[in-house]
Amino acid sequence: MIRKKKKAGPKHFLDIDRFDEKTLRRLLRLGHAFKRGGVRRRLPLKGKTLAMVFEQPSTRTRVSFEVGMSQLGGDVVLLSESESQLGRGETIADTARVLSRYVDGIMLRTKSSENLHQLAQHATVPVINGLTDLTHPCQIMADIMTFEERKGLITGRPVAWLGDGNNVAASWIQAAVKLRFPLRLACPDSLQPKAELIEWANSEGGDVTLMEDPDEAVNGADCIVTDVWVSMGDRDKRQRHNLLQPYQVNRRIMSRANEDAIFMHCLPAHREEEVTAEIIDGPQSAVWDEAENRLHAQKGVLAWCMS
Ligand code: CP
Ligand code: NVA
Repeated sequence: MIRKKKKAGPKHFLDIDRFDEKTLRRLLRLGHAFKRGGVRRRLPLKGKTLAMVFEQPSTRTRVSFEVGMSQLGGDVVLLSESESQLGRGETIADTARVLSRYVDGIMLRTKSSENLHQLAQHATVPVINGLTDLTHPCQIMADIMTFEERKGLITGRPVAWLGDGNNVAASWIQAAVKLRFPLRLACPDSLQPKAELIEWANSEGGDVTLMEDPDEAVNGADCIVTDVWVSMGDRDKRQRHNLLQPYQVNRRIMSRANEDAIFMHCLPAHREEEVTAEIIDGPQSAVWDEAENRLHAQKGVLAWCMS
């Protein structure tokens, strides 16, 4: 009996931990090539459409995906939760089935990672994670691009995360394991990344260390990264401010890292909270390149998923 070969499913971009190093490197190379303008087939997504579904606000993600699709020859359709039937209780599964009949890919920003996984399970086109409560992989692809533009290969180079052990920190942890660089996270005890994530990192042979002392985390680091103290969906604003104050990135903490260390932040930023204006607007800051690289890194992801 001749068995039919099972058709491969859509190429989702859900989280960094789902990829091997070789594929991540391929995606990063594509991003760099798009940035240089050196990809031969310039409109690889001509005639294709990406649906962008936002359950939460966005500036960078929305604009970089829209411009990226346009530069690759494709189109986008924008849906917000409140202006679509999602806001009136249509299920994610049905939304996935319907959108898959119209578009060639779906990008979702959601307050619940469960929604992303439901979407990916029921869509027959690629699904891209545009941020969940748990992770933000597109951001970290841009961050790795930015680090490597400034400082060369990230493998083996110490990175320090200061502040809330949030969704962005989680994707940094996954990247540290997959791309083999040491990551030291200094977070208050109650705001540390999920224990299962650290257990996974250790079981995969990653060099990921949790600590409470920011000075210890930044010692010898080539890069210091932070994020807002209150993420979308977080409620306990005052308590978070009190807990996170000692983790502010300022001149003192920056001076304890390597002399030529860079500062990164996914943005939006709150000056004089998680970072002082002097640092984010100073010579060690890479945040504007980092924001620009969302566009290039995501063009790599879009081309890989959809062409
Ligand atoms: N860094 C980031 O994802 O920014 P937006 O929330 O503006 O998309
Ligand atoms: N941790 C932040 C990232 C915003 C891009 C949030 O989830 O709000």
